[in-house]
Formats: sequence, C-alpha cells, structure tokens
Amino acid sequence: MRSKIVAGNWKMNKTLTEANALASEIMGMVSDEVTGDVKVIFCTPFPYLLTIRNLLGNNARVEIGAQNCSEHEAGAYTGEVSAAMLASMNIPYVIIGHSERRQYFNEGGALLATKVDVALKHGLTPIYCCGEPLEVRESNGHESLVKKQVEESLFHLDEQTIKKVVIAYEPVWAIGTGKTASAQQAQEMHAVIRKHLAGKYGQAVSDSISILYGGSVNAANAKELFACADVDGGLVGGASLKSREFVEIIKSI
Ligand code: 13P
Repeated sequence: MRSKIVAGNWKMNKTLTEANALASEIMGMVSDEVTGDVKVIFCTPFPYLLTIRNLLGNNARVEIGAQNCSEHEAGAYTGEVSAAMLASMNIPYVIIGHSERRQYFNEGGALLATKVDVALKHGLTPIYCCGEPLEVRESNGHESLVKKQVEESLFHLDEQTIKKVVIAYEPVWAIGTGKTASAQQAQEMHAVIRKHLAGKYGQAVSDSISILYGGSVNAANAKELFACADVDGGLVGGASLKSREFVEIIKSI
C-alpha cells in the first residue's frame, strides 16, 4: 500500500517567529483531530529546517522537507545547500524540480536527474515535481510533456530505487492561480503517470509509488481530489500557510 501524504510547500514565506507558530498550531491540531493514516510534511525554507525539525520532536506523523538541494556534492557554490547537509540534519524529504525552479532558475531534465541522484545517494526522499504550463495544456501536449519530464529525470533509476521517490503532478496553470485542476483532470494525469511507470517498471512497482496532486488545493476541493483512485495526497502551497485550512486539507484524505 502506498503512503498517503499531505505536504505543505511554504515556498519563500514566513519569518522565523511566524514559521514556528504555524508549525506548532498545525501540530497541535493534527494530534487532536487527525486519526487517519496520513503523513504530513512541512517543506520549510532552508533556514528554518533545524528549528522546525526540533519542534516536531519524535512526532511520528509530521515530518520535514527542504524545497530544493544542489546537484553538487560540496564545494565552492556560494549560497547553495547540499543533499549531504540536509541528510546530516536528519531532513528526510526534498522537493526537486518544482515548476518555479524550472521557470525562474532554469532547471531542466538532466540537471534534475542529477539532483534526484544526489538526494537518493544521501538517503533523502525526493518529491519530484512535474506538470505542464498553460500553453502546453491548451495545445494538448500535456500528456507527452509530463511523461517526458518523468522519463528524463527518473527513468534512469532502477526498480528498487524508483520506489523511494514520491511524484507530485502540479499543472503550472493551477499553481497559485486559484484555478485548480478538476478531479477528473487530476485523475487522468495521475493515471497517465502511473501507466508510464508501470510500462517501465511493472505494475507492482508503479502501484507502490505515491503520486501527489498540487495546484490550488484548498479545504473546499481537497476531498474530491483526494478521492481519485490515483491521487495519493497533495502538495499544497498557499493553503499550507494557514493552519486551520491546512489541517482541513489533511483531514480530507
Ligand atoms: P498553490 O497551492 O499555492 O497553488 O501552490 C502549489 C504548489 O506549488 C505546491 O508546490
């Protein structure tokens, strides 16, 4: 059985005080209200990782992740953070290939394959993001683009290793726009990804990989999205910055 996951991508938001308050509020509500079998992940800005990780203590349900890591092992790369550093801080997850990284920092398939490798080498679980921009969706190229994104950064992995990856499908036109994919659109694309994984690795491996949906997930639409057969949870941006709303999303799974 694959894991159900609700991850909050805080992006570049919150001061340290605000971040601590947000994490504490969510944790309190999660322990009081969430009974189902769901893993919650806070993907915080780099500077807060240790503080928030310490705040979590050994809470089994809530974990922590970074939003990016360098493709390099170590060295003269001013401003970068390596996978080895994250591993040394016991950070179990790292988002790789978010569309904002692809768009604003020019990250492409080959580079992201290297980041996936370096993360896995250090024992981190990559949350690998894929998804099409609006013009690609409008010209009906979304399936082939997303399959290509999965192929070029993940298909070099062997059968045992791909099982350690979490995939997030995030259509770019739905990110931060308030315009979410319909449950049908999300399910269609998750099924395309799962079928593509099955073609390469076999159905059993494909069935073991969690595929999250991201893009304007909120408390009102989460239930319908999470009810889709191939949607195993969400990667949530804006709504993960509001404790009550995020907890309602978690409870929708
Ligand atoms: P929003 O939920 O704000 O649309 O962001 C989604 C996202 O980019 C999560 O990684």
